[in-house]
Amino acid sequence: MERILVTGGAGFLGSHLCERLLAQGHDVLCVDNFFTGTKANIAHLTMQPGFEFIRHDVTFPLYVEVDKIYNLACPASPIHYQFDPVQTTKASIHGAINMLGLAKRVRAKILQASTSEIYGDPEIHPQKESYWGRVNPIGVRSCYDEGKRCAETLFFDYWRQHRLHIKVVRIFNTYGPRMHPNDGRVVSNFIIQALRGEEITVYGDGTQTRSFCYVDDLIEAVLRTMTTPDEFTGPINIGNPVEFTMLELAELVLKLTRSNSKLVFKPLPSDDPRQRQPDISLAKEVLGWSPITELEQGLERTIRYFKDRTDVI
Ligand SMILES: NC(=O)c1ccc[n+]([C@@H]2O[C@H](COP(=O)([O-])OP(=O)(O)OC[C@H]3O[C@@H](n4cnc5c(N)ncnc54)[C@H](O)[C@@H]3O)[C@@H](O)[C@H]2O)c1
Repeated sequence: MERILVTGGAGFLGSHLCERLLAQGHDVLCVDNFFTGTKANIAHLTMQPGFEFIRHDVTFPLYVEVDKIYNLACPASPIHYQFDPVQTTKASIHGAINMLGLAKRVRAKILQASTSEIYGDPEIHPQKESYWGRVNPIGVRSCYDEGKRCAETLFFDYWRQHRLHIKVVRIFNTYGPRMHPNDGRVVSNFIIQALRGEEITVYGDGTQTRSFCYVDDLIEAVLRTMTTPDEFTGPINIGNPVEFTMLELAELVLKLTRSNSKLVFKPLPSDDPRQRQPDISLAKEVLGWSPITELEQGLERTIRYFKDRTDVI
């Protein structure tokens, strides 16, 4: 049994991670400021004896005794991270500094939830970990992209300078139950619009592609990364390399929800990458992992979750 800190633990991915760690018999300390996370996401965990929650903002130092840290705290969708961009950069950078400081003090192993956004609008497909990316440093997405890039830098400097045991995972688009209903992500958008019978908003001409990883697969890879030997730091891509166009996704959602919603096309947002696809050869080799949930199966589970959200539908 270990004492494990999950920052951003009341969010979409964090709540699934807390759930899995508790199921493995660990003591879980969930830290969140509820910026995008909710009490509802962790309500089912609060009765478990191994679960503890602290309402705290990671841009301030935290003094706790733990063996491992998963650093997920950061708004993750454009709508949320552009709401208060300065705070987004702080969540990434001050958050990383504070969590790395904590890890150094208690000699905890620490994992950073980085992102495919650090590749920016990439010139190569699929993206390998060795690719340095093409990021606009002054655009509206930069608070997130550059914040996450600098957090990676900090992780690697703590590793080089202080011999901290670090792991950096680069997460690609993930979906599943407990995604935010209103954060503008394409999967939740399409599902909610289809369930409400509203028009389905497709940005651009819908031919831009994305790959989507189901949350359970993602969490499995994150957990496996933490158990890799100390010499392994990452960065490691985690995601599903199977690409779909936005039009294909919209049609699948319409089929599974049996909705009659119509598609409407709107201009692409600024800096929106046309294509993003992970090369997961490293994850296959080091973690023995690749995603196992088919898009249709994952969408069905996500649709079921949103159907039960009577506050949303
Ligand atoms: N979901 C994805 O597809 C995806 C893709 C790439 C990377 N990620 C990364 O994974 C992590 C989790 O993402 P998510 O999808 O679960 O998003 P989320 O918004 O649901 O979770 C983020 C959590 O962090 C909390 N938080 C934000 N700022 C905080 C602060 N200053 N102090 C304490 N808590 C704070 C929020 O309240 C929320 O609970 C993020 O770091 C994100 O960048 C997610």
